[in-house]
Amino acid sequence: MLVAGNWKMNLDLAAARQLTSGLVSTIGKTETTLVAICPPFVDLDATYNILHGSGIRLGAQNMHELDSGAYTGEISAPMLKAVGCHYVILGHSERREYFGETNESISRKALQAQRHRLVPIVCVGESLAQRDGDRQNAVVEEQIRQSLSGISIAKGSELVLAYEPVWAIGTGRTASPDQVEAMHTHIRSLLVELFGQKNGYAVDILYGGSVKPSNALELFARSNVDGGLIGGASLSVDDFASIVRSAESAASS
Ligand code: 13P
Repeated sequence: MLVAGNWKMNLDLAAARQLTSGLVSTIGKTETTLVAICPPFVDLDATYNILHGSGIRLGAQNMHELDSGAYTGEISAPMLKAVGCHYVILGHSERREYFGETNESISRKALQAQRHRLVPIVCVGESLAQRDGDRQNAVVEEQIRQSLSGISIAKGSELVLAYEPVWAIGTGRTASPDQVEAMHTHIRSLLVELFGQKNGYAVDILYGGSVKPSNALELFARSNVDGGLIGGASLSVDDFASIVRSAESAASS
């Protein structure tokens, strides 16, 4: 299980430090669940210093596809490595929608992340219109095939996939456990086709979209659900810690 918090564009340095310290003291050591937080770029260095030694890992929310150069405002993979990042979220639906990210640019970023030993958390998910048209499987399949083009896997732990239906993000409207399980099973068979049985099963598939303490356990208990990518609820120590405990319970049952 993996539970990762996507803080999005929230929390300045002081607030980031406060939340991170609270998480470190409240979550403590976990048995079966990997925990990560993905703060804004400017909070990464300070939060890493608080996380260091706690077992909670650090991730970023985006990166550029090249090492360095004249790309004003961008951040590179080597820079993220240097401040202690383990993960990087790529192709979040907000990046696709507001910043024009495409499957092609996401696949170049994913390759670049792996080249620098960062684990990409590649996000996919259909819009409400696509779900209403019953096109979610085809949409997600195309996103995965194109966003992972050129990606290879030796162990499975070098890639994480996040299924985040756009209509469930920040809306309070969670996909039902049946909807989530059906999509995750579809994604699993695709990963097996792309990477083989062993590696296809070793990739964690996270669900994201209005995960909260009240629904985390029923989602994590479903097959092929290997954890969650948490937005709003990751900004509260109590909510995020509770979601981590749900992952621990789901893994041990
Ligand atoms: P919410 O949990 O706020 O719906 O956000 C989900 C998300 O986008 C995580 O990346």
